[in-house]
Amino acid sequence: MQERFCDMLRGLFSQENSSSSRALTYRIRTYGCQLNESDSEKMAGIFEKMGLAEDESDKPGVLLLNTCAIRENAEDRLFGNLGFWKTLKTDNPDMLIVLCGCMTKLNEDLMRIKRSFSYVDIVFGPQDIHRLPEYLYRRLSTGEKIIRVSDDDYMPDDYDLPASRKRKFRALVPIMYGCDNFCTYCVVPYTRGRERSRDFGKIIEQLRELSTSGFREVMLLGQNVNSYGRNVAGSPDFPDLLERISGLNLFSRVRFMTSHPKDLSNRLIDIIAENPCIERHLHLPFQSGSNDILRRMNRGYTRERYLETALRFRESVPEGTISTDIIVGFPGETENDFTDTLNLMNEVRFDSAFTFIYSRRPGTVAADMSDAVPEEIVAERFSRLLELQNSHCLESNRSVIGSTQEVLIEGTSHTNDTVFTGRTSSNRLVNFTIPDGTMIDSEPIRLDSDTGNRIEGRFASIRLLKAKTFSIEGRLENFTDGR
Ligand code: SAH
Ligand code: SF4
Ligand code: F3S
Repeated sequence: MQERFCDMLRGLFSQENSSSSRALTYRIRTYGCQLNESDSEKMAGIFEKMGLAEDESDKPGVLLLNTCAIRENAEDRLFGNLGFWKTLKTDNPDMLIVLCGCMTKLNEDLMRIKRSFSYVDIVFGPQDIHRLPEYLYRRLSTGEKIIRVSDDDYMPDDYDLPASRKRKFRALVPIMYGCDNFCTYCVVPYTRGRERSRDFGKIIEQLRELSTSGFREVMLLGQNVNSYGRNVAGSPDFPDLLERISGLNLFSRVRFMTSHPKDLSNRLIDIIAENPCIERHLHLPFQSGSNDILRRMNRGYTRERYLETALRFRESVPEGTISTDIIVGFPGETENDFTDTLNLMNEVRFDSAFTFIYSRRPGTVAADMSDAVPEEIVAERFSRLLELQNSHCLESNRSVIGSTQEVLIEGTSHTNDTVFTGRTSSNRLVNFTIPDGTMIDSEPIRLDSDTGNRIEGRFASIRLLKAKTFSIEGRLENFTDGR
């Protein structure tokens, strides 16, 4: 069905080519998490099927904004950018603006989009991405504006969506969609619908294809990968999936996120410890170190249980790292609660952390909690938390200085094109130089502005020389084959 729309659009676009000033190009701006990035890769694949080419300029034929609603500042950024695109659309009236993603599922945001951003041509929700061809066709053939945000529990396996992958070495593969946890601060269960796991056999089949087409790393995605298979009678669980993927030897590296502490089993830790292709890293959000706050967040674990899991991972995978997410200023957070958070950080010594100021999200349970923490107190706590975490990051990076580690190269560093960047299996970010005369594929490497592109996806041994807070500086010793 959608295939037919793609074909019709290809015809429509090429007919239009002579009569309209619309470029046969698309641009996607993605906000939010890796699940959104994965959706964007699928929509890029759909655009390419229609014959559109990617265009990073400010004058694409179709602009698609894939939005995030996790915190208020994510929404503010989007609304700010929409103002910018309005000006560009005034100069380029044929440009079609498409808006999708999690914000479209929140009523207040949708009302605001309808009210103040009437130049947006098409709006659909995160569960409707497979309908992009149909909506685009209808917009172009009838001229009607389209606002269709459904509550369907979309499963991509029901549609054959081609993906155009952004990274040539890393494949993002959702293994499940939605979330049933209803943490009281969080919009995701409302924006992404009920938790549903993909079929085990279909995941394995897809991974085999990705491996054959040359991907070295896979990133398995889900809001809570540890509950994979839970809602499907007889389905293997997440440790089974990881064990099978490792056994098939399909990738040099298998990554996954996010692990919810309440569902992480000892067996999962054992499987990580036994299989070196699985990343030596856990992203294990704890959110708060206070049992009272954890209960009011509906997280389903205590600080003691969290500590037990984190320390068990440290013991079983001694070279591994743990990253986390922390929220400061949840309603009713007292100085004692906050001290519990700092104490937990001191006990686990997280190698890195994403730290957030609590943001009230309309429609969530916490939005109706009355005891908001005053802004100045939150700001002061947040800066204490950052200071402590930064010291832990630096301490963690220092602990590996002097060692040589294998890095999967991701390209050129953003700030200097003679410096390259990659990650270790423990997810440490390494920026490194390549000495003149280094051999690659039996020839000396050519160092020019394209080197980063050419070596992206290769593995190398890097000597780690200097620790910074968020990265490590190193020097390449030699290229390796990564297995
Ligand atoms: N499913 C993942 C998290 C997805 S959202 C998990 O449960 O671990 C990523 C992070 O955003 C969360 O871990 C949380 O720390 C943060 N977050 C979510 N809602 C928030 C809110 N209302 N205010 C501040 N931070 C929030
Ligand atoms: Fe949000 Fe909690 Fe689900 Fe994570 S587990 S997406 S924080 S509701
Ligand atoms: Fe944002 Fe939706 Fe992801 S709210 S964090 S894009 S699931």
